[in-house]
Amino acid sequence: MIGTSDRLHLAIQKSGRLSDSSRALLRESGLRIQHGKNDLTARVDNFPIDLMLVRDDDIPTFVRDGVCEFGIVGRNVLEEFALGEAEPAYEVIAELGFGTCALRVAAPEGKAYDSPASLAGERIATSYPRLLKRFLEENGVEATVIEMSGAVELAPRLHIASYICDLVSTGATLEANGLHVVDTVLESEALLVRTLKPLTPEKEEAAEMLLMRIRGVLATQD
Ligand code: PRP
Ligand code: ZN
Ligand code: MG
Repeated sequence: MIGTSDRLHLAIQKSGRLSDSSRALLRESGLRIQHGKNDLTARVDNFPIDLMLVRDDDIPTFVRDGVCEFGIVGRNVLEEFALGEAEPAYEVIAELGFGTCALRVAAPEGKAYDSPASLAGERIATSYPRLLKRFLEENGVEATVIEMSGAVELAPRLHIASYICDLVSTGATLEANGLHVVDTVLESEALLVRTLKPLTPEKEEAAEMLLMRIRGVLATQD
């Protein structure tokens, strides 16, 4: 594609809790998002910006590497990634006020919990092992972290773990699985992040325009 190298790449979640709100924010910012044949990218026809529609878990890597200069991603995904990096990989530009949820510790009904010390010696299933380990360390608790890539809520029923640590938004998933919240590891919301890699002057210009527009929308929401 001619001129592609001068276009900014903004990564957003393809489908999931942040996708609709991410697109809505961009539209309110005046970006006309084209519906192309290729559903992994979308061209913005009135600005030199292309959207990359990807798995949220991949967004921090793309932004670190500068493959995408910007990304919209949850603090939960971003901080889990950052804990595995030796160096800072991105700059947080703005808190976007949507996608609010929290990484919480939950237990089956009837399981006692007074404080993090209750987790000592227990097995905890999670898709966020680094954030959970940090929480345990900060509280001076030794427990076994069982890493699962999904369906963490099933772990207690399968006797894989006695507690889980997972993202909670409405709480419907926990309730459906007979679990209740006992503690909080991280409060989260959608963030706009920017790569630390230097941009070409053309991309820098597009970036400043994008940020001005997004900040304009956010200012009206305060
Ligand atoms: C999270 C979490 C639960 C669900 C909780 O998954 O793993 O399954 O959301 O939401 P609720 O409290 O509203 O029921 P997410 O949608 O982020 O998907 P992912 O784990 O595949 O990224
Ligand atoms: Zn995800
Ligand atoms: Mg899930």
